[in-house]
Amino acid sequence: MPEFREERVFDENDYKYFSKVFDFFTFDAIRTFEIRRVIKRASGVIKEGKESIIVLCEGPENDYRILKIYKIETSDFKRMEEYIVGDPRFKSVRKKKRDLIYQWCRKEFSNLKKAQKAGVSAPKPYAFMRNMLIMECVMDGDNIARSLDDMNEGELDDPEEFFWKIVEELRKLYKNAKLIHADISEFNILKSNNKPVLIDFAQAVLQTHPMADRFLERDVSNLTKFFRRAYRLNFSCNDVLQYIKN
Ligand SMILES: Nc1ncnc2c1ncn2[C@@H]1O[C@H](COP(=O)(O)OP(=O)(O)OP(=O)(O)O)[C@@H](O)[C@H]1O
Ligand SMILES: [Mg+2]
Repeated sequence: MPEFREERVFDENDYKYFSKVFDFFTFDAIRTFEIRRVIKRASGVIKEGKESIIVLCEGPENDYRILKIYKIETSDFKRMEEYIVGDPRFKSVRKKKRDLIYQWCRKEFSNLKKAQKAGVSAPKPYAFMRNMLIMECVMDGDNIARSLDDMNEGELDDPEEFFWKIVEELRKLYKNAKLIHADISEFNILKSNNKPVLIDFAQAVLQTHPMADRFLERDVSNLTKFFRRAYRLNFSCNDVLQYIKN
């Protein structure tokens, strides 16, 4: 199991450091999650990307949870707007940067809920507040699950079978949740006990989104390209698309 550090990561002494990345509200929300027992405590940063910080947390049921914190300052707004405009659920998005990030976080929570309800393999979402989301930590045995880009040779027992398992998840997402992930790549698919788990749902859109078809084609194309490059497997994009839609 991943080791939890004994000391709290987020206390007043850390605020000086974290205030470079987080604002006071972010810092305060972590406390609120702890008080509401959505998490027992934040343990430590395990990943820091351009747009988010991923923190491993101890859950209330001796489980592991992930706190995903969207960075306010460095996020790519142009990219986000493309996915939010045209989605009737998010009509009242205000232009202010902070508000847009909050909406983005709410959107990931709501998309994860939909995915969950549709039986799609994705992390269970627990709560969100402002720019922070608490979800299940995907595990692979006793370790935190890794993404497909992080696999060593031979780590996938049967790459062809794994490919079709991913397609099956995309199909469930499409047919049952009426969603398109819209950012499928080897970075956003984790391997958990020989099963794929889709993550990173903020940009996912409803089938009714004007760009929905284009996003789905791009998802399938990214996936087939990756399996061609990494495993020399050839799948027809069109066949896969037809399978997902029908
Ligand atoms: N629920 C989770 N369980 C386990 N690991 C996770 C989980 N969520 C995120 N991660 C890890 O953190 C990484 C980044 O998460 P995610 O893709 O959601 O954020 P992002 O903003 O897209 O980050 P990036 O810009 O680096 O892609 C993932 O590739 C994965 O390794
Ligand atoms: Mg990602």
